[in-house]
Amino acid sequence: MEELLQELESKELMFENYKVEYIRLESGNILYSERLILIKKIAEKITGKFSLTKPEIVLGITFYENEWIFGINNKNNFLWNSHHTKPYSYSNSFGVKLAKTLVNIATFGDSNSKIIDPCCGIGTTIVEGLSMNYNISGQEINSLIAENANKNLIHYNLPPIVLNKDMHLITNFYDTSIIDLPYGIFSHTSLTEQKKMIETGKKISSKMILITFEPLEKIIEECDFKIIDFCTLKKGNFKRHIYICE
Ligand SMILES: C[S@@+](CC[C@H](N)C(=O)[O-])C[C@H]1O[C@@H](n2cnc3c(N)ncnc32)[C@H](O)[C@@H]1O
Repeated sequence: MEELLQELESKELMFENYKVEYIRLESGNILYSERLILIKKIAEKITGKFSLTKPEIVLGITFYENEWIFGINNKNNFLWNSHHTKPYSYSNSFGVKLAKTLVNIATFGDSNSKIIDPCCGIGTTIVEGLSMNYNISGQEINSLIAENANKNLIHYNLPPIVLNKDMHLITNFYDTSIIDLPYGIFSHTSLTEQKKMIETGKKISSKMILITFEPLEKIIEECDFKIIDFCTLKKGNFKRHIYICE
């Protein structure tokens, strides 16, 4: 902390209408009284007007993994919360948080990473990928569903990029595919069909995130993929299996 305070002093920081906040994490919390002292010490090193009620700049301080971290705290604007209520949705769709998480796992934050959701349904993953500025493509074999996916994208001012195409016809190669295998109350997808889709996943991408409604470890390995991580998620009476494969 002493080091940090010295550094702040040497930088001669100046802000108008700023506020310093202690950012509470799951670990590294300190008492409220200590937080106030800390905030005061930091504020003393900054020139400018302090504003508690209408700050234009929020500076954050926190303690994480044995280090004090300080900087401008750009809060998430939470715009993606509106993605929960898409114009078109169906029971098989991913939740927004799951779609976001899958895109994060697929890209690891690399905006150059090329990803595809070749069975994208109404485009839950595509909405998240595009709104986080990732290079994501989407395909859907059912023309009505593909059309609705594009309407969802337009609704959020995103480009309607979903192609109405069979995934088995993809000729491009991607860093990662996110494949949510078709399943359903109305149509059953046989193991042979699911295997064919995993084989296509192998053909079109070096990494695959596979989402299934039944355990498919054996088939994944038969398709020459290695499972590097795995989890299950419960959705009502169903369980989703999520495999990260390379
Ligand atoms: C489980 S749903 C995907 C749901 C999607 N994750 C969402 O959140 O909306 C699987 C989708 O794959 C599509 N599909 C099935 N076979 C396909 C194929 N060969 N090529 C492209 N899409 C296919 C189905 O029409 C269905 O919409």
